Amino acid sequence: MATATTQTHKREAFGSRNVFILSAIGSAVGLGNIWRFPYVAYEGGGGAFLIPYLCALLTAGIPLLLFDYAIGHRFRGSAPLAFRRMHRAAEPLGWWQVLICVVIAVYYAVIVAWAAMYTWFSAQLTWGPGNENDFFFVDFLQSADVAKVGVSTEFVPQVGIPLIGAWLIVIAIMSFGVKRGIGRANMILTPLLMVMFAILVVQSLFLPGAVDGLNAFFTPNWEALADPAVWASAYGHIFFSLSVAFGIMVTYSSYLKRKTDLTGSGLVVAFANSSFEILAGIGVFAALGFMAQAQGTDVAGVASSGIGLAFVAFPTIVSQATGGSIIGVLFFGALVFAGITSLISVLEVVVAALQDKLGWGRVRTTLTVAVPLSIVSMALFSTTTALSVLDTADAFVNSFGIMAVALVAVIVVAWMLHKLPVLVEHLNRRSSFKVGFVWKMLVGVLVPLVIGYLFITELIAKISEPYSGYPTWFVAIFGWGMVIALVVAALLLSAVPWSKRSHARDDPEYDDFLVEEKYQPDPETSSIPVVGTAPKGEDA
Ligand code: ALA
Repeated sequence: MATATTQTHKREAFGSRNVFILSAIGSAVGLGNIWRFPYVAYEGGGGAFLIPYLCALLTAGIPLLLFDYAIGHRFRGSAPLAFRRMHRAAEPLGWWQVLICVVIAVYYAVIVAWAAMYTWFSAQLTWGPGNENDFFFVDFLQSADVAKVGVSTEFVPQVGIPLIGAWLIVIAIMSFGVKRGIGRANMILTPLLMVMFAILVVQSLFLPGAVDGLNAFFTPNWEALADPAVWASAYGHIFFSLSVAFGIMVTYSSYLKRKTDLTGSGLVVAFANSSFEILAGIGVFAALGFMAQAQGTDVAGVASSGIGLAFVAFPTIVSQATGGSIIGVLFFGALVFAGITSLISVLEVVVAALQDKLGWGRVRTTLTVAVPLSIVSMALFSTTTALSVLDTADAFVNSFGIMAVALVAVIVVAWMLHKLPVLVEHLNRRSSFKVGFVWKMLVGVLVPLVIGYLFITELIAKISEPYSGYPTWFVAIFGWGMVIALVVAALLLSAVPWSKRSHARDDPEYDDFLVEEKYQPDPETSSIPVVGTAPKGEDA
């Protein structure tokens, strides 16, 4: 029998609860808030959308945020370790979340790179008036049609070079670790992002026509509330926006000090994220109101979705408004900062998981994760068919990655492992806001019902029509193939034994935590080697 390892690895931690809160807000506030929410809200009935949105936030977003916090903090590990400590058989859930983050990271970095280039282009007004659409699709992305050219390998340098830059920045921040890298970056970037965005919103409100934009945004279309698709889009949006159900909050909360008010922190993060989101809606629609007036049309004629809104409508506003360059630099700069703080959190899920499993140091793990991912990101997304791959990967990973893992996780934890009472007890230990029956009902009953419904609707929709009209082979690889591969790879990764060097095998800090908190040191909640049959120091 091998002797027990005697590593005294100390799990990294955020410097304080405030740094954790800023980092969690930095993660939550991302591309989803700035370019996705305004359009989703507008399409979903404008002012009336706030009703399904608030319902989704209160009945699914916040309950799942606390669910993630409780798992990460109670079982003190990256997603695979935390789920494994909850129950040996639950480890694949953690790897599934890790792999979802791998997919998100490779395309998220690309949008950050585009935004960085557009910050520069805004200062120069590079696109020239009236040419914003062609500039983005033809001159900048050099978009080619996958149906005609297949997946191209033609390199587009103006995307590839900033993409390398984005990866280098993220690698540098993450190599410094949780406290000195992630914590410090968020302490600077998150407040800076808030200030930049507040200035942008105020400036937008003073543009001529801003009121028309706000009227279009807030005028409630009550009929929309009768449409189940509107409710589906509110629930679908809240997971991505709050960064719940894909391992981020499990990982971040594992870096929180032991005696922490978890529910209070969760409420601060959730309301900060939603306030930012609504502010983004106000800013974006005030600017669209201006654009509509300048073009002599109505707001409906200029409001477009995601990529179009940020990279076509906003550049048009920048061309037409007095002081447009400042608006552009603030908008795209905010998008870069929001993107970087979210991208860091997405990658941390992967880095933390490998560190836990392999027992490697910070820099080595960061490079092992980020270098191959940056190469994949370059290979897939700095080519002329990047846009179609990105669009497909994003749509599928949201519906059949995040939503699917959320559904399976709540069913496994609530109904198969019966762990909700354990999580309630942990959440309530030091929290200002107590949870109980209502939270258990929401997580155990309402959330699985709602996500189950959304999942089936999405499945039917995506099977009955080829996504976005792309060729079948293309959707089969980058859509279905990708989401199925995630599940298979998650099962395979769970079968890989935990390294003998992994601190998770022999974790005195975690054992102390169990003793100090008077938790039952049952086999499933102690360090890894106690779980299952293998004695300490041997592969479990
Ligand atoms: N929560 C992040 C976003 O909204 C991932 O973009």
